[in-house]
Order: sequence, then C-alpha cells, then structure tokens
Amino acid sequence: MKVIVTGATGLVGRALIRSLLSDGHEVTRLVRGEAQGFRAPGTKAVHWEPEKGVVNAQELEGHDAVVHLAGEALAGERWDEEKKRRIRESRVKGTHLLAETLAGLKEKPSVLVSASATGFYGDRGDEVLREESASGEGFLSEVCREWEKATLAASQAGIRVVHLRIGFVLSADGGGLPQMLTPFKLGVGGRVGSGQQYISWITLDDLVRIIRRALEDEHLRGPVNAVAPNAVTNEEFTKALGHVLGRPTFLPLPAFAARLAFGEMADAILLSSTRVEPARLEEAGYEFSHPEIEEALRHALGK
Ligand SMILES: NC(=O)c1ccc[n+]([C@@H]2O[C@H](COP(=O)([O-])OP(=O)(O)OC[C@H]3O[C@@H](n4cnc5c(N)ncnc54)[C@H](OP(=O)(O)O)[C@@H]3O)[C@@H](O)[C@H]2O)c1
Repeated sequence: MKVIVTGATGLVGRALIRSLLSDGHEVTRLVRGEAQGFRAPGTKAVHWEPEKGVVNAQELEGHDAVVHLAGEALAGERWDEEKKRRIRESRVKGTHLLAETLAGLKEKPSVLVSASATGFYGDRGDEVLREESASGEGFLSEVCREWEKATLAASQAGIRVVHLRIGFVLSADGGGLPQMLTPFKLGVGGRVGSGQQYISWITLDDLVRIIRRALEDEHLRGPVNAVAPNAVTNEEFTKALGHVLGRPTFLPLPAFAARLAFGEMADAILLSSTRVEPARLEEAGYEFSHPEIEEALRHALGK
C-alpha cells in the first residue's frame, strides 16, 4: 500500500511508519515546517501547514490510505487560552483541510484512519462506555466531537473513515508514561485523588496493530475504541506500576495538589474517569497482544 501519515514525528507516527516500512509499504509523510529536519529513511515528505490551510494536494494523488495523527500535544504546558486554541485548531482545522483535500483528489485513497481520543466520552465514573455511548461534557469532549466531525468531506466523497478513540498509550518512548516514572522511581509514587477514576489504556504495539487492521479491514468504519479490554482504576494502575518498578506506592497525590501542579489539565485528564470497552474490535475478532495492565507495563518498560 501507499500510505500517507500525518503527525509522523510523534510517538504513534514513528512506530507506525517503522511497522509499515518493515512490511514493504510505501510511506508519504505530511510534514510541517518545523518537522522538515526529521529523518525517516525510505519515506517521501510532502509539505503542509495545517493551521494556515496550506497543503500540496497534487502530491497526495494516487495513495491507497491515510493515517491522520497530527495534533498539538496535550501535556507539556499549562492549559491557558492560547494552548487550548492550539489543541483545538491543530485538530479541527487540520482534519478539515485534510478531509477536503482528499475529497477533491482525482485518485482518492479508499480509507482515512483518523485519531480521536477516549476523551470523547468525558468524565463518566464507572459507566462502561462503548462506541454507541454518548459523548461527554467539557473541553476535551468538545474537541473530540469537532475533530471527528471534521472528516465529513472525506466520508461524503466515499472514503471509508475510521475514528480511533485512543486511550492512554503505554510506551517508554514518549506520551504520558515516561513522565510518570520519576516520582515512582524516587519512591514517592501513589494514586492521584481518590484513585477510583478509570484509566483506559493501550500499549503502543497494540495501537499500531489496530491502525494496521483499520487500514485493511473494510468492515471497520466510524468510531472504534482503541483501548485494551481491561480498563483499570488509577489505584490499580498505580499498584501495577509500583510492582513493575519494584517501588512503593503509598504517597497519594491529593486532587488539590494535582490541580495546583497541572491546572485545568488535572481535572480533564488525571482526575477524569473513563471506562471504555473495545466493543467493535472485539466484534471484529481482534486479539490483543497485551490485555492485562501489569504485563502491558512490563512490556512497555522492558521489565
Ligand atoms: N499518546 C496518547 O496517549 C494518546 C491518547 C489519545 C489520543 N492520542 C492522539 O493520537 C494522535 C497521535 O498521538 P501521539 O502520542 O503520537 O502524539 P504526539 O507524540 O504528540 O505527536 C503528534 C504529532 O502531531 C504533530 N503536531 C504537533 N503539534 C502540532 C500542531 N500544532 N499542528 C499540527 N500538527 C502538530 C507533530 O507531528 P509533525 O511534526 O510530524 O507534524 C507531532 O509529532 C494525537 O492526535 C493524539 O491526540 C494520543
């Protein structure tokens, strides 16, 4: 297959490109100005500026599939109005631009696999959330709804669109997990808030296999929860991580301290409870390589 990938320099993009290339597929990266120095041998680069609406459409003709992963990182900075604008616009404007560009091609791809997130469902306690569950409230839920809707031009043009509602990605190479390790290694790790909030997670390896499956399986379309089948509470996650690292986990981080340290992001991510089931993937017979949290953490951290 000839596959276009956006967000190619990111955690998921790098792993996906390695996987595609190792199976002999051709990869075209859509790269922004600041990503042009990034080297990915064996791939072609096409320029785009998603926030300015700039893309070289002609060079996207004749591809079979597109995987759209680009978006401003959620962590790293406190969420002031400018950061929230970038989180929203990088996803919504970028996805509109991509979908409209693909819809206008003479030789269109047959499938667009577009990232979304379990944040779509919002803070929902211990309610079990499947793809047909309603969206939630708050900033991240709104962003996810708009992000998913922004692919409309592509589906109207007959392109099969899959929205992967991705959970917390477990990898030592990036994302949230490496940032959590320092307090644990120092022996001051512990649950956050009550610890009863659910975390829906997925290993990077499973996520790459799910993206590959979504590219090929014509029965998958619309929302697909990309999470392992066993969501855990923050307390269970904390204990599993403590076991894997061989460190104690009895120093909880109270909710007020999380809010002080992380601002609005604390409620939206760390204290929010989202218990998601991969119903569509299970119906499709997908077998998870890492369905249980402790083994998944061992695998992700090479322990
Ligand atoms: N990692 C997780 O736990 C997780 C969970 C749920 C959902 N997701 C979603 O899955 C997608 C891939 O995740 P990831 O972990 O690979 O993310 P990542 O490491 O943050 O990479 C995202 C990529 O998006 C591009 N990007 C960054 N800022 C941008 C901006 N302002 N405008 C346009 N593009 C920008 C960059 O690629 P270029 O420099 O190549 O353009 C960046 O490498 C993201 O959309 C993310 O929201 C991730």
